[in-house]
Amino acid sequence: LAATDYQAEDATVVQGTVATNHTGYTGTGFVDYTNVKGSYVEFTVSAASAGTTAVTFRYANGTATDRPMDISVNGTVVSPAVSFPATADWNTWATKTVDVPLTAGSGKIRATATTAGGGPNLDRIGVAAVTDSQAPSR
Ligand code: GCU
Repeated sequence: LAATDYQAEDATVVQGTVATNHTGYTGTGFVDYTNVKGSYVEFTVSAASAGTTAVTFRYANGTATDRPMDISVNGTVVSPAVSFPATADWNTWATKTVDVPLTAGSGKIRATATTAGGGPNLDRIGVAAVTDSQAPSR
């Protein structure tokens, strides 16, 4: 299924900075969340139709501690405290996929740190195409 990538460095960043001080990111950098609860990155995405779709976060967490984040759509938390566990180091990226409900058209997907450590380093998200929610008529 086709997915559309959205780079974190092109998103709205609140309490974070765009950085390039580790390897392996895509695009022109990644977002380094400030180490505070409530720091967030918000992506504006578009969906051709309404439905639930897989959103894949590409991240790095070079600490030994989880960096959980609330995932919200248009201001409503749809997946609370999603785990972003340790990767081998800050140059090692992993993915985490969350099912997210989207409405047709433009929407805001926000990933907000829920602990004082802030979020992990975030490279990008990939938003899969919404699959048909209804069987075809016959
Ligand atoms: C280190 C690392 C950063 C990371 C930060 C953190 O400073 O170089 O990329 O964001 O730790 O703990 O969040």
